[in-house]
Amino acid sequence: GIPDFVKIVEVGPRDGLQNEKSIVPTDVKVELIKLLVSSGLSVIEATSFVSPKWVPQLADAKDVLEGIQDVEGVSFPVLTPNLKGFEAAVAAGAKEVAVFPAASESFSKANLNSGIEDNLARCRDIASASRSYSIPVRGYISCVVGCPFEGHVAPAKVAYVAKALNEMGCSEISLGDTIGVGTPGTVVPMLEAVLDVVPVDKLAVHFHDTYGQALSNTLISLQMGISVVDSSVSGLGGCPYAKGATGNVATEDVVYMLDGIGVKTNVDLGKLMQAGDFICNHLGRASNSRAATALSKV
Ligand code: HMG
Ligand code: MG
Repeated sequence: GIPDFVKIVEVGPRDGLQNEKSIVPTDVKVELIKLLVSSGLSVIEATSFVSPKWVPQLADAKDVLEGIQDVEGVSFPVLTPNLKGFEAAVAAGAKEVAVFPAASESFSKANLNSGIEDNLARCRDIASASRSYSIPVRGYISCVVGCPFEGHVAPAKVAYVAKALNEMGCSEISLGDTIGVGTPGTVVPMLEAVLDVVPVDKLAVHFHDTYGQALSNTLISLQMGISVVDSSVSGLGGCPYAKGATGNVATEDVVYMLDGIGVKTNVDLGKLMQAGDFICNHLGRASNSRAATALSKV
């Protein structure tokens, strides 16, 4: 059955902003994170320690972490693609990191300039380095149902990467429909394959809403016992390798649905909407959250 409590991992400041063309000032990112904290979110992915040539928007990763160093009681994981990124993250005060291999070889090369196996070796290096600092490592898998280059991705490929991440000691494994093509028809067999090799309480789901399927996919995942959901305030985001791909499912829409079915999140929808308004005003854009758009008119 559906869990009583769902942990929301807010990824707006990272996944949401990483593709924004115009650079968002550091103080705006810090203010966004603080507003998200006020809404009750307990995990907020803050930034990435990746190459600034690949992701110019997050070149200020160190300054963002410095801006939130006094905020207590909330986890701020950061993406680290290699040991260089891991060392920089630790030096900047990160207490939780995330690695992000792909289930598709072509996407791995496009996103990380290395194939799946090379990348898993880098993840293993990070996982072993993190043990000496007692830093939890979250593992993402990209392209869990579809790849912008290869099309459909077989569930067995996802299970293979999930098993590898579990064996290297990842604290949580987030299954990402990077380009938002999945439906319950493809998500369910993928989850079944992963559940054969990783315990359900270690899994999270990460849906992008390109085809409007993210909430359906979220609900079906909860029905299969998953209780960690990644989402992005105002549905911010996009994927540079898939034309038209939209952001993550909007956090406001997830919270609205979970409130409606009586699942606790500890997130205050009104305060979350204030964070959404703040960043949408800054970007000069309307919210991609249907719930926030509707609620702002009633
Ligand atoms: P590369 O070019 O192969 O790296 O990139 P390299 O090792 O050859 O080094 C090239 C240059 O990058 C060097 O600098 C390095 O020092 C530097 P130079 O000597 O030319 O001045 N460099 C770094 N700088 C800062 N931080 C680092 C770092 N590493 C090397 N960590 C690399 C390989 C992995 C670095 C690159 O491909 C990269 O940064 N990729 C990240 C791409 C990314 O962030 N994508 C978005 C996140 S994934 C995602 O959104 C999906 C997800 O949301 C789940 C889902 O939706 O499914 C997670
Ligand atoms: Mg994503």
